Amino acid sequence: MRVLGIETSCDETAAAVVTEGGDVLSDVVRSQVELHAPYGGVVPEVAARDHARAVVPVVREALSRAGVAAADLDGIAVTSRPGLAGALLVGLQAAKGLAWAAGKPLVGVDHLVGHLLAVFLRRGDAPPPEERPSFPYVALLASGGHTAIYRVDGPSLGAIRELGATRDDAAGEAFDKVAKLLGLGYPGGPVVDRLAATGDPAAASEAVPAVMARKESLEFSFSGIKSAVARHVAKRGRPEGQALHDLCAAFQGAVVDALVQKTVRAARIEGVERVVLAGGVAANRGLRARMAAACERRGLALFVPPFASCTDNGAMIAYAGALRLAAGERDALDLAPETRTALPRVTRKGGGAR
Ligand code: KG4
Ligand code: ZN
Repeated sequence: MRVLGIETSCDETAAAVVTEGGDVLSDVVRSQVELHAPYGGVVPEVAARDHARAVVPVVREALSRAGVAAADLDGIAVTSRPGLAGALLVGLQAAKGLAWAAGKPLVGVDHLVGHLLAVFLRRGDAPPPEERPSFPYVALLASGGHTAIYRVDGPSLGAIRELGATRDDAAGEAFDKVAKLLGLGYPGGPVVDRLAATGDPAAASEAVPAVMARKESLEFSFSGIKSAVARHVAKRGRPEGQALHDLCAAFQGAVVDALVQKTVRAARIEGVERVVLAGGVAANRGLRARMAAACERRGLALFVPPFASCTDNGAMIAYAGALRLAAGERDALDLAPETRTALPRVTRKGGGAR
């Protein structure tokens, strides 16, 4: 089975052709980062307009790199939720038009399910298939828009359960906001990661509180740490040189500690031996290193997809869609965008005691 996946939920226009076995035949990602950079974050209307310009060339490129025509496809998958309504609409309309014109089945995919299954993608340079996890696994999904821990018992919506999520900012959003405060540009994760590598977290620890929320809960809260950095900068000005590296190291260390401790705790509570990382923040070197060490100490197997599978891409959507198609599922041409995930939420935004 060869499935085209289209992703336009946020600030990447992406398309890919993937088999139901997870082999990536092509994967084209066109980022809008430069368009949004002057604003320090994604502007929804700018995103939707740029998707409209880019979606047809990106889909053409994905088909041509895979060496398949629309007529050769077994189906078309598209991110239908969650995301920016106007941005999602562009991908949906493109997918529907192509599905109708080529007479192919259409399936909508929940973007979060795509991220959670991205570990199964096989790219040319990726590890061999035996290094893919079996079900069940506990997954930490940390990106610019979402941060949550899931128990994944299978690929369908009903087999995925949220164990805890952030009550306020996503982890990537915290990186982006702190980078903006420090004058480091957008997106902030990669630059904070780079500066933190040569910083001493202990030297800036008084500026950055721990982000543990309540110890026994599996929920996160990152808005407090962002406010602490803002207060520090308001009082002392933007740090420079080594002090900037130290602050980045302290901030990243606090965020990573919370992500690692709660993920490992979730695996223990669920009695699951496999841990999977997903989302753009999974590129963070501090997170990868500390998660690897923590999993090793507790005898957990850790699976970290290659970077291209962690950040937003069309391949994860094509793969999740291929599994839906293989299970005989279809969506009608009136499929509408939804801003929220279809996965049941256990964490209320803004809710509960910290
Ligand atoms: O998954 P993704 O590409 O898009 C969303 O669905 O949000 O994630 C992008 C997020 C941004 O917030 C970015 O700052 C963060 O991932 N990010 C990182 C790193 N690389 C990207 N955060 C921390 N360390 C990194 N190395
Ligand atoms: Zn994403």
